[in-house]
Amino acid sequence: MGQQTIIKLVDGNHMPQLGLGVWKANNEQVVPAIHTALEIGYRSIDTAAIFHNEEGVGKALKESLIPREEIFVTTKLWNDRHLDASAALQESLDKLQLDYIDLYLIQWPVPEQDHYVDAWRQLIELQNAGLTRSIGVCNFHIEHLQKLMLETSVVPAINQIELHPLLQQRQLHSWNATHHITTESWSPLSRGGKGVFSSSLVEQLAMKYGKTPAQIVIRWHLECGMIAIPKSVTPSRIKENFDVFDFRLEKEDLTAMSELDIGKRIGPDPETFNQL
Ligand SMILES: NC(=O)c1ccc[n+]([C@@H]2O[C@H](COP(=O)([O-])OP(=O)(O)OC[C@H]3O[C@@H](n4cnc5c(N)ncnc54)[C@H](OP(=O)(O)O)[C@@H]3O)[C@@H](O)[C@H]2O)c1
Repeated sequence: MGQQTIIKLVDGNHMPQLGLGVWKANNEQVVPAIHTALEIGYRSIDTAAIFHNEEGVGKALKESLIPREEIFVTTKLWNDRHLDASAALQESLDKLQLDYIDLYLIQWPVPEQDHYVDAWRQLIELQNAGLTRSIGVCNFHIEHLQKLMLETSVVPAINQIELHPLLQQRQLHSWNATHHITTESWSPLSRGGKGVFSSSLVEQLAMKYGKTPAQIVIRWHLECGMIAIPKSVTPSRIKENFDVFDFRLEKEDLTAMSELDIGKRIGPDPETFNQL
């Protein structure tokens, strides 16, 4: 297995390019999953208040012998706390049993509510107070990002968006890159490879490189410059998903992958997602 890649964020902090997502893993499932991941070499965990598993994540981190500063922990502010981010982060820290996290993200812009700039101002203060090392957003479109940057002039380190071969988001990724915002892909496997692993192109590439479809897709994220956080609670898959640092996709194969883009979302559209 090769060396994992680390990304330098706009604020100077560093983040592993591949991490473990834990959505839909409950507190019991997440503990062994994180232990397995850390043993294999993962050093980044992506949770959120709304995942209701921060206690489990905290338990696993506490039990781990790996020093805290070597693990990159992300959690997120839920939609009903945009005016209350300081208390929300403290609740997350208590559940995680941590005194700081590495990355705090506004999970959705919630345009109808229109409080995301207020939330962003609080995140800036939380970063200044040392409670989170980096700050960013999820599911923000260009106009949401422009508003944040116009009103506060602080650039989000990360924009975590739904991104996989069926929804490649090239325009938003490129806009992020132009503004030094790192794009992070959620549902990087299109949630279990639906419509992707069985495509003839991904099957052919898996044969060509002697890798699995999941490894081809994860490698594609890394080569395109995204951070990826595939979720699994299955030890063999946690291992499989990390075994991607010993090969590179050729340029023509990356070009061929772009043809899989059909603009298909699995999750909600950020323009209309207003659930609190
Ligand atoms: N910011 C946001 O709004 C947002 C929204 C959604 C997700 N996220 C984050 O992104 C992470 C990843 O997204 P996701 O969980 O939606 O989807 P995903 O990572 O694309 O796919 C996860 C699914 O794929 C299965 N899987 C994992 N590795 C596999 C492999 N090698 N072969 C076959 N199947 C495999 C997992 O099953 P098993 O677990 O059973 O192995 C699980 O059912 C989440 O966990 C979360 O941390 C963020």
